[in-house]
Amino acid sequence: MENLLQQLELYKKEITAETANTPEAVEAFRIKYLGTKGLLKAVMGEMKNVPNERKKEFGQLLNEFKQFVELRYETLKSQHSTTADNNNEKIDWSLPGDNFTVGTRHPLSMVRNQIVSIFQRLGFAIAEGPEIEDDWHNFGAMNLPEDHPARDMQDTFYINQNPSWLLRTHTSSVQARAMEKQKPPIRVICPGRVYRNETISARAHCFFHQIEGLYIDENVSFADLKQTLYFFVQEFFGKDTKVRFRPSYFPFTEPSAEMDISCLICGGDGCTVCKHTGWVEILGSGMVHPKVLENFGIDSNKYTGFAFGMGVERICQLKYRVNDLRLYSQNDVRFLKQFTSVV
Ligand code: DAH
Repeated sequence: MENLLQQLELYKKEITAETANTPEAVEAFRIKYLGTKGLLKAVMGEMKNVPNERKKEFGQLLNEFKQFVELRYETLKSQHSTTADNNNEKIDWSLPGDNFTVGTRHPLSMVRNQIVSIFQRLGFAIAEGPEIEDDWHNFGAMNLPEDHPARDMQDTFYINQNPSWLLRTHTSSVQARAMEKQKPPIRVICPGRVYRNETISARAHCFFHQIEGLYIDENVSFADLKQTLYFFVQEFFGKDTKVRFRPSYFPFTEPSAEMDISCLICGGDGCTVCKHTGWVEILGSGMVHPKVLENFGIDSNKYTGFAFGMGVERICQLKYRVNDLRLYSQNDVRFLKQFTSVV
């Protein structure tokens, strides 16, 4: 046993003297001392010859020895490792770097962000609601009772498990949720995806995007509605863009109006986009129907409000001349990479 002790001391000296100064020599050190047929294994194997009463004492010594060898190995390795950090000559710093392919924002997201930020500057806050809605928020509260013919205009996807659930057909449902949650003054802009059971074609899709606006306070007038939307058009489409309001009908507004802008494609001269009228419709709007206000306990004698809803795809089409709605959801990189923006 005493032999083994002496032997360990000799090994330690030998190991301390090892000066593996190339990565290859470090590897040779590892194999010689720590490998499966290496010295450490052999020394550890001696344990079986140690009498039981001294096993504890030797166990400890051998453990210390093991740590000693491992530490020496780690030290040599860190001094002469093959890793890039320590091995400068092997790296050709003149090689060109890796190219990252940077994605672009989706045109609909860009347009949505631009629209939202214009209204944010006017003090509108963003509001959101669920895409799976109930009948009340999508229809009932918006003054479309069950037998209302206008429900037919919006081919609704219903949900099998529960017939009072549906995929929202317009972002007007978020108006309902905003009025439910907040007390006037309310000034929100609600971007989101909506769904309608339409056959997919260049001009129609089963889902698309809308942006809803709602402003309720004392003394809000139709003039405020017009001025707000006029400001939006000037900011978004440019100062030369003309607007016009046409009387219309929506169950949730009274009076209601649709807003057209002068056609950006032909400058008002007439083309296929504006069907040779020089004007294109971009949104529906109106003064919030008193019944809608009362549905949420808002006193319609004290408060008035305006609302509007626009289709993001339509606006994107006008801005970027996209002539087929399907392009937005096909994720064809050749289409997507044509849009670059910081917003
Ligand atoms: N919800 C209407 C639609 O999807 C758009 C709309 C019209 C929204 C008038 C409004 C509004 O807030 O006042 O066709």
